[in-house]
Amino acid sequence: MAGRWITVGWIGDIPQLGARVVSSAEGDIAIFRGSNDEVFAVYDRCPHQGGPLSEGIVHGHTVTCPLHNWRIDLKSGDVLGPDEGCARTLPVAVKEGVVRIYIASTATGTDG
Ligand code: FES
Repeated sequence: MAGRWITVGWIGDIPQLGARVVSSAEGDIAIFRGSNDEVFAVYDRCPHQGGPLSEGIVHGHTVTCPLHNWRIDLKSGDVLGPDEGCARTLPVAVKEGVVRIYIASTATGTDG
């Protein structure tokens, strides 16, 4: 399956310590912006019971799932102890304020 880079939009359109959601054929993707403007992309499904990670609280490079408070490392997708699991992350590139993500299947970006 061929992958491709898609443009998500401007980094300024992603709330700091928050996320916006992009639809894809494999499910929604949450694009997070950390406090230092680092950007992370993770499929918007908690590895516990599928909670919407995009609605979680961001601390540094982790997000806390809004349903049962599991903490997920946004760099690796790993669940932080004592729980175990892994969320699916995607490569991100930010150039001159434009955020792009790499996905392995057809997707629809909200901003083209
Ligand atoms: S669904 Fe995320 S912690 Fe339970």
